[in-house]
Amino acid sequence: MCGIIGYIGDKNPKGILLDGLKRLEYRGYDSAGIAVLHDKQVEVFRCQGRIEALEKRLSNADFKGSLGIGHTRWATHGAPTERNAHPHQVGAITLVHNGIIENYLEHRERLQAMGRKILSETDSEIVAHLFDLEVSQGKTLLQAIAAVLPRLKGSYAFVVLSKNEEDTIIGVRNGAPLLVGLGDKENFVASDVQAILHRTKQIIYLKDHQIAVCHRGNVEIKDLYGKDTPFEVKTINWSADQMEKAGYRHFMLKEIHEQPQALAQTIETNIDHQSGLVSIPELSSLRSWLKDLDQIQIVACGTARHAGLVGRYYLERFARISVKVDFASEFRYRDPLLSTKSLVVLISQSGETADTLAALREAKTKGAKTLAICNVRESTLARDADLVLYTNAGPEIGVASTKAFTTQLAMLYMLAVEAGQANGNIDETYAKELTADLLKLPFLAERTLLLEKQIEKMAGDHLDCSFFFYMGRDVQYPIALEGALKLKEISYAHAEGYAAGELKHGPIALIDRTAAVLIIAPKDTEPTSAPEGMAEHSKTLFEKTMSNLQEVKSRGGKILAFGSENDPSLAQHADCLIQLPAASWALNPVLMAIPLQLMAYYTALFRGTDVDKPRNLAKSVTVE
Ligand code: M6R
Repeated sequence: MCGIIGYIGDKNPKGILLDGLKRLEYRGYDSAGIAVLHDKQVEVFRCQGRIEALEKRLSNADFKGSLGIGHTRWATHGAPTERNAHPHQVGAITLVHNGIIENYLEHRERLQAMGRKILSETDSEIVAHLFDLEVSQGKTLLQAIAAVLPRLKGSYAFVVLSKNEEDTIIGVRNGAPLLVGLGDKENFVASDVQAILHRTKQIIYLKDHQIAVCHRGNVEIKDLYGKDTPFEVKTINWSADQMEKAGYRHFMLKEIHEQPQALAQTIETNIDHQSGLVSIPELSSLRSWLKDLDQIQIVACGTARHAGLVGRYYLERFARISVKVDFASEFRYRDPLLSTKSLVVLISQSGETADTLAALREAKTKGAKTLAICNVRESTLARDADLVLYTNAGPEIGVASTKAFTTQLAMLYMLAVEAGQANGNIDETYAKELTADLLKLPFLAERTLLLEKQIEKMAGDHLDCSFFFYMGRDVQYPIALEGALKLKEISYAHAEGYAAGELKHGPIALIDRTAAVLIIAPKDTEPTSAPEGMAEHSKTLFEKTMSNLQEVKSRGGKILAFGSENDPSLAQHADCLIQLPAASWALNPVLMAIPLQLMAYYTALFRGTDVDKPRNLAKSVTVE
């Protein structure tokens, strides 16, 4: 959650810190603050609310000095007030923190018993006291940090400075992301690369329990005992431009429009054009193992889990392997049944979601093979899983996940085709047709985006609806869940996603004239070599969904339908119809996700909510 930045160099830090915080604001935006050290004095400025409010407050502040730290907060311990905002200053110490210190209460009581005054409700201030206690006994900042860390339980990334050391900023991590950016006579510490990518591309990703001691002229990486430890400097290939809105009003809209390119980039590296087949290079070592696999468990959170639900349909159809899908937050606590023949697939855009990382550890402990589908290189998930398949979506900044989702679907499609070929469930002809279909996906996504104006109108015409009910069957059921999640998270409208067949088992009671019912009912095309019965299967699904449509209609609900341009039948029944380019059963979920993203976007826009920074949310949930 929270965003962190630190700077040490020869420039005035005010602008660098504020600019970095703006680029990190998607991680949390309840309160913000910066601290600057000069001449053994630390000046701290904090305020409730967004970075804009902090910037306003600082407009006339003239800082001296050339090192400082900054923080944008997503509140966990303590309300989002100025008192609880970071940085926290205690004696010689000033720090910012991302994470949760689970045993802070026991430390708090001890500190209070010693007569220490605690000013905030946060766990972070307690740690500042602990560091300060050590420094006040004569330890250096590094020694103080090394002495305290073994006594902390929980997850953290800290960036700390001491009044007594004007050429040092220290960053340390355990379970929360932190990296160091190397510059010319200046160095940076940040929770995400986005904060500093326009300043340097030379990055050291810290590992858990590593301590980065940053001076103006050099950086040392130490272990918990203060000993030098090896590290790697990576050159990042994301460009700084990708972090900008590029003329779009919001990152979300830009990212929706980037989907054709993101899909092309994700697919391209996994196709062998000579054979015309999907061929994921990272899977080559796994191919023979895939043959004997007895189950796949997919684990993820939020939108990434919805991708996993679609993935289950792909894997069960193309590879005939039994697949379970779970919330990472449930999986990690339910003692899952896994063996050495199980593959656990963990899906995450950020690769830093706390529950997904805990699920990864659980799977590894139980001896299962782990495969990550991840967008952020060098993230904890990407580093710690046995194998990683990258979605090449580029940076996703909008809190509502869009291009990460559709590229995850493309990756799962390819995984299913590879697994199906490996275990002989699909033959080469069928695999080639599936591959040829997939190669058309970026173009189909581009055509789908041309429907934007119609969707904007649909959103504008239904703003007064009391409730939005999304339904789909089979592989479209997770898309109904995803559509509803998108709408609720950015527009705050009440929305539910359901499997269409469940309508009569309860939710139909909610349908009246004020409800909008979004029905996802494409007419699937099928590759000619698809096994017998597939086309019939799609036809049956479509007919069943049409019956559900009638049930809604007869109860007065407004029907907003998403169908295919090769199908005239929906037009007679829908109050509003969006017709997408015709596509196959497996590609339709990817295409259907796009108008639902746009529907959520325009509803939010008309309702006047903050699309890229919806209330109470943060881009990546790095605490439990
Ligand atoms: O970074 P991750 O993919 O692990 O994030 C998982 C969820 O937190 C994320 O998908 C969340 O549900 C999004 N805000 C949805 O738009």
